[in-house]
Amino acid sequence: MAKTRQSWGSKLGIIMAVAGSAVGLGNFLRFPVQAAQNGGGTFMIPYFISFLLLGIPLMWIEWTLGRFGGGFEHGTGPGIFHTMWRKNRFIKYFGVIGIFGPIVIFIYYTYIESWLLGYTFFSLTGKYSSATTPEAMKSFLTGYQGLAKNEYFGGLSNAYTFFLITFILNIIVVYYGIKGGIEKLCKWAMPVLFFCGILLAIRVLTLGTPDIAKPDWNLKNGLGFLWNPDFSKLLSGKVWMAAAGQIFFTLSVGIGVILTYASYLKKHDDVVLSGLTAATTNEFAEVILGGSIVIPAAFIFFGPENIIPIAQSGSFNLGFVTMPLIFGKIPFGIIFATLWFLLLFLAGITSSVSLAQPAVAFLEDEFNLSRKEAVGIFAVICFVLCQPAILFLGNGVVDELDFWGGTFCLVLFGTIEAILFSWVFGIDPVRNGIPQSGISNRVDRAWDEMHIGADIKIPKFYKFIIKYITPLFLILILVFWFVQEGMPVILMKNVTAENLNFVILTRIMLAGLFLLIAFLVKIAWNRRARIEAHE
Ligand code: ALA
Repeated sequence: MAKTRQSWGSKLGIIMAVAGSAVGLGNFLRFPVQAAQNGGGTFMIPYFISFLLLGIPLMWIEWTLGRFGGGFEHGTGPGIFHTMWRKNRFIKYFGVIGIFGPIVIFIYYTYIESWLLGYTFFSLTGKYSSATTPEAMKSFLTGYQGLAKNEYFGGLSNAYTFFLITFILNIIVVYYGIKGGIEKLCKWAMPVLFFCGILLAIRVLTLGTPDIAKPDWNLKNGLGFLWNPDFSKLLSGKVWMAAAGQIFFTLSVGIGVILTYASYLKKHDDVVLSGLTAATTNEFAEVILGGSIVIPAAFIFFGPENIIPIAQSGSFNLGFVTMPLIFGKIPFGIIFATLWFLLLFLAGITSSVSLAQPAVAFLEDEFNLSRKEAVGIFAVICFVLCQPAILFLGNGVVDELDFWGGTFCLVLFGTIEAILFSWVFGIDPVRNGIPQSGISNRVDRAWDEMHIGADIKIPKFYKFIIKYITPLFLILILVFWFVQEGMPVILMKNVTAENLNFVILTRIMLAGLFLLIAFLVKIAWNRRARIEAHE
């Protein structure tokens, strides 16, 4: 017996859920670091161009393809791609990336998210208040992560407890489903997250010059450090790649999660305005809030000499070392520190539940499993897969997972989606009884599909962008990125001798996972063919 597919409770619900998936650690930690390292204000030029030519089109493409697939009871890559191109027997296997990628991100993202829950608790209870220097705060973090035994932690038990709580919370939300779990969570978590973000941004923007002995260590210079343009960087390929990569990561496009979320829409639900609203909500959180908190605050408290090494020390250092130290220096610091970690935890959980949903939807849609069964299988497999990230954090496992799940698959899947949408979607030779002519008209079908039920019309020139510019831009990025960054990682050039075996084992685990999903796709299609033959 076929089940009825789930659906969203309201339009606001899905917008909040997609924005929840997009607004994550990337907005508050990754973005300011990327901007500071890649030319400050100048970074915003390739960033906005990537947003317009890549981010927005992919957002619309994923919403449209997801809603289209949902109409055929498919909520993930394999089914959606197959429905678009029925004659091609292999295309469904390209869709596997849209289930594999989110699982890979989920298995390390949930662990990092659990640190935020831990730190929210430690902020409230004052557990790290005795750590007042960067060295002490770093040793608090490494002790918590189980990388060192010290006066703060004797092992992994704290981190593991918070991981278990976070993992179970994620599973509960997904278990309650699209409307009863994910939509409900995002509808309260997103406003709370924005409230915390706005309060923190106001606090930083009113810091002025806290130390009159150091008049240069002030807000104006802090904002200047982040936003002053350095036009010499505009011609750097690295800066363009960083900007495009940030757009992918922050909007959660190319992962596969928006496809799945949109598959729970109804045929005539708008996707154009909703996709745009979700994308702009994310940009507000990123550029306005994300740009006003960490870097200006770190500048004001650590000064112009230290800000460059701080920005280069990476997102985790900024989030878990620099920020708690800053909060230790301001009145009511405990409250602001708690708000900071709570903000990040909420940003994290609204993203991680979206990463879980494609795999669950795949099991429900293609094997007709109940939600309870699908979530149960997902939970057991992911719980096992999470263990290497927790136990071997110091051995390059998380970096490896992030490379494949959080970088490589994103760009690859985004490129496949863009090409399929503009060049294959209309492959069906007859539409509404009218024979269709040539390949060049295929984008028209996609354009029409996108505008079904649309609350606004997309300007016509976007058809050209979606058809030519977005796929070309993506292919260029893929090639450049592959040569510059991908190749050394694939060949394990940067892996130390003692991490080599861990990295190889992680790759074996990932290859096994990919093959398992591909095998499940094969079984599901055989099963479907048998059922259809009997009907
Ligand atoms: N889009 C999510 C983030 O920015 C993954 O963290």
